[in-house]
Parts: sequence; C-alpha cells; structure tokens
Amino acid sequence: MVTSSQAGVPDPESAAVPFFPIPRASGCPLDPAPELAALQERAPLVRVRLWDGSTPWLVTRHAEQCALLSDRRVSADWTQPGYPFDSPFLRDHHEEARFLTAMEGPEHLRLRRMIARPFTPRRVGQLRPAIRQVVDDHIDALLAGPKPADFVSQFALPIPCIVICHVLGVPYEDHDFFQHAIRTLTARDVPDEVAGKAEGELYRYLARLIGRKLRDPGDDLLSQLAAERLATRQLNRHELVMLVLFLLVSGHETTASMIALGTLALLLHPDQIDVLKEADDRGAEAAVDELLRYLTTVQPGRRRVAVEDVEIAGQVVRAGEGLILPEEIGNRDERVFPAAAALDLRRDAGEHLAFGFGVHKCTGQPLARLELQVVFAALFRRIPTLALAVGVGDLPFMDDGLGYGLREMPVSW
Ligand code: HEM
Repeated sequence: MVTSSQAGVPDPESAAVPFFPIPRASGCPLDPAPELAALQERAPLVRVRLWDGSTPWLVTRHAEQCALLSDRRVSADWTQPGYPFDSPFLRDHHEEARFLTAMEGPEHLRLRRMIARPFTPRRVGQLRPAIRQVVDDHIDALLAGPKPADFVSQFALPIPCIVICHVLGVPYEDHDFFQHAIRTLTARDVPDEVAGKAEGELYRYLARLIGRKLRDPGDDLLSQLAAERLATRQLNRHELVMLVLFLLVSGHETTASMIALGTLALLLHPDQIDVLKEADDRGAEAAVDELLRYLTTVQPGRRRVAVEDVEIAGQVVRAGEGLILPEEIGNRDERVFPAAAALDLRRDAGEHLAFGFGVHKCTGQPLARLELQVVFAALFRRIPTLALAVGVGDLPFMDDGLGYGLREMPVSW
C-alpha cells in the first residue's frame, strides 16, 4: 500500500513543500526553472504549495503527465472540489467564466465538435497561400521600415492575430482593444476588479458582434455558429460569446509567443538556422515541433483534479486532490528526449506536449503549426542577417500570465 507520506514525498503540511510556480533562473530565459528539473529527478509526483496555501501534486515526468491527462478519473472541470486554481480571479469567477478547457464529458464534446470544422488539417491547409502572403507582407514591411524594429508588435503578434480574426470573423481593426483586454484578463497579478472590467468589455464587444453576424453573416466561424447553432438553440448566446472569447484568446497570443520566442531561440543558436534555411514551409514541420518542445510557451501547467482515487507510479492520488502538469518539464524529460536541454531541429520531437495531451489537446494545433512553419521557413531565408538589437538580458519577458512570451524584441538586420 502506498500513501502520500511515503519516503521522498514530504508531508503536505511541511515547510519543505516548494511554492509553485517557480520563476525561471535569471540569465536562462528559455529554460524552465532548474528547481523543476530537480523535482523531476526526485519523483514523478511531488507536492507543491500554491498561492492559496493548497498543496496539489506536481506531475513532473512525461509518462505520468500523458497517463494522467488521458485518465477518465482525472478531470479538467474546475467546478470540482479541489481544483488547483492559478489565481484568485479564476477561483472567484470560475462559474461564469467557464471555458472549453474547464469542461468535461458530453458538454465538452458537444462544444468541441462545434468548433472543429475550420481547424481540421484539410481546411487549415487551404489557408496556406493566404498565410504565406500575410507573412511575406510583414517581412516586406519590416525590411522597408526603420531599424531597429520591434519584432513583437510588427511581426509576431499581428500575423496570428490577422489569421485568427479571419477564421473567426472578428474585425482585425479592433485589435488594439481586444489585445489589451486579453492581456489584462489573462495576467496573474492584475487586481480582480481590473480583470473583471476587461472581461466584461470583451464580453459585450463579442455579444454585439454576434448580433451583427446574425443580421449580416460572412464566411467565418462566428457567422456559421450564429446561424447554425444559436438560431437553432443548440447554443445559447452566453455559450457562444464564451466560446468565441476563448478562441480569440487561445488563437493568437500563444502562436505570437511561439513566433517571438522561437525567433529568439534561433538567434541564440545560429547553427540551427542553417537547418531551417534548407527547408520550405512543408519541410519545416520537424523544426517547428522541436521549437514547440523546447519552448513550451503555455504555462504554468495543465490543471486537473482527481475525481476518483488514482494509483500512479507507486503513489495514490486521492479523489479531490489537485494535479498540476507542467509540460515545460515533461518536454525536457531525458527519458523521452535525450539531451533534452539542447535545441536540435533535426530531432524527432513529435511526442512533445506543447499542445497538451488527451481529450483537451489543442483544437487549433493544425493552424498554429502551419503559421509557425510558414514563418520560420520564410523569416531567415528572407532576412538572413536578422539580429537582436539589444542584449538578451534587456529583453522584457512576459511571465505573469497563462503564457510565456516577450513584450518587445528590438531587432535589426
Ligand atoms: C503555438 C500555439 C498554441 C499552443 C502552444 C497551444 C496550446 C494549447 C494547450 C496546451 C492546450 C490544452 C489545454 C488543456 O489541456 O487544459 C490547448 C487547448 C486549446 N487550444 Fe491551443 N495552443 C496554440 C494555438 C491555438 C490556436 C491557434 C487555436 C485556435 C483558435 C487554439 C485553440 C485551442 C482550443 C479551442 C483548446 C481547447 C481544447 C479543449 O479543451 O478541448 N490553440 N492549446
């Protein structure tokens, strides 16, 4: 019989339980906190302490992360007791702000199926010429503009934002408004009322947009959902607003962070740029998987709760105990990725967890992959002299929200 007080696993009340999340080490902005690697070596499951004093399990290794993320006894439903919330805002607003990732069972499946159509590899593939054009136009504009230029606001952020706006049917010209609102509501340290106000404004904006789509539909997901699901009462207006809000949030910040951090990683590993220069966007597939593995920008960890007792790796996780599964350390697990700390665009990184695992695995991954492939195949071919215009130590990293990224990255060429 194994229990939570077995050797190597500190009592949850003990001061030895480390606080989570753990900040990255200074000077190593592309690596997870070294303490996470030490915890991974110690055991596949260890206790950590959260902002509210609770002590959920941190699942440190790739195999156990995959097993638990696909275990029916483990739930993403944040209305279940014991769910390890990332912030007081989410804990206090979780009932009205329930997104797809926090649902389970038939409710989750029903909504997931409704949005699946535009994100299948076949449908996404039809966007390839348009995405190539958007990327080329932004490289042209960068080259034509003054140096140094901010790579984030002029390249990494607009490209995925234009693409997701096109797919959803959200007017791109409103991007200043919704990007600001999204940043505010996903940041961890923003006061409750500020985050609530931002969410309210975004909610009302999308509700008005849905009204316009009903009157004047376009060829986009929002019009399709409004006409086929809202009008036939398969979805109510609140569900539709929340669905689109979630797609808008997840559809561009994540990819933008990958473009900016991926470019930084390549600038810091110039030997790897040569691998990319040999590839067209179809050939950049493996390179993009490796960048996704190496960087793992969605953080800090998938959140789950056991709804029944689960025995795993000699440890019993009791029903009602929270679980945190940080893919950034699963993706650096030497048991699956030898020399995991090295960026190696020639490796097969196909088993990475950057898009999650199990029933909640990212719906938008074909779109994100395509955007990243087009960007990285074109960028260094067209701007071979691309370089940072400041030292890495002067770059403002974003580490206070649901994704890791860069606020700005001055570049020259
Ligand atoms: C590089 C870019 C991206 C990364 C790293 C990423 C990562 C993730 C991860 C880790 C999850 C799993 C959440 C969980 O299990 O709790 C997820 C879910 C999801 N992502 Fe992405 N994502 C990216 C781009 C996109 C894009 C472009 C879209 C399109 C709108 C999108 C839509 C979604 C949706 C709808 C879910 C929820 C799936 C579900 O709960 O069933 N993502 N994503």
